[in-house]
Amino acid sequence: MTDRLPQHIAIIMDGNGRWARSQDLPRGAGHERGVKVAEHAYRACHERRVPHLTLYAFSYSNWRRPDEEVTMLMRLCGEFAETNRDELVERNIRMRVIGDLEELPTPTRHRIEGTLEATEACRSMTLTLALGYGCRNDLVGAVRAIAAHAQAGLLLPEEIDEDSIRSFMTTSELPDPDLIIRTGGEKRLSDFLLFESAMSELYFSHTMWPEFTEEILDKAISAYGRRQRRFGRTPEQLAAEA
Ligand code: IPE
Ligand code: IPE
Ligand code: MG
Repeated sequence: MTDRLPQHIAIIMDGNGRWARSQDLPRGAGHERGVKVAEHAYRACHERRVPHLTLYAFSYSNWRRPDEEVTMLMRLCGEFAETNRDELVERNIRMRVIGDLEELPTPTRHRIEGTLEATEACRSMTLTLALGYGCRNDLVGAVRAIAAHAQAGLLLPEEIDEDSIRSFMTTSELPDPDLIIRTGGEKRLSDFLLFESAMSELYFSHTMWPEFTEEILDKAISAYGRRQRRFGRTPEQLAAEA
């Protein structure tokens, strides 16, 4: 293991459908198993003392999937929040949501809100679920809010900076991700934390999400530990400061 632990890991949990197909199962079976793996992932991150874990559970673009699949994913998201409520409280893990909670079906939203409230004071780790989340949509929301504030005379154009833009996004309470892991073999971000990942390290795994293990998590963390993050500066500058 490494002594450079990422403070915020964000995971694009991809490959449920392909995994299910490879086992001659319906896509839904992949999602069901994916939920179990998500539980293992938050426990593993908690045990490794990672302060922030963000899981991409349902994207803004995923609303375009067949109704039946969307309904199932919504049910699973609600069940995840409800079933894990007590364990999250016991582990002192706060659950949060980024994306558009209002767009979720009412039963799902209620279950999630129940867990958001129950874990509000928990401080050992933050587990953020990205639900109905898309960074472009989040930016649109922020720009609209900024325009409304400007129109109301609460904000001058010259006062708009990176921090004020962030403050209007649903990710405003989150630090930027240090490490983004994507399973399932695709090498893209699919509208996940585009603004926030400007300086993130990316790690791609061919393993489909239902087969993700703690070993892969540790490999990603070790790979992260070996990378030099320069934030635009030169290796010599960094060495001089070390
Ligand atoms: C990720 O698995 C889960 C969600 C996007 C909700 P997919 O359902 O995208 O699985 P593949 O990529 O089709 O295998
Ligand atoms: C990204 O996976 C979204 C989630 C994991 C929730 P997708 O399967 O939806 O992404 P694309 O369509 O391959 O880009
Ligand atoms: Mg996919």
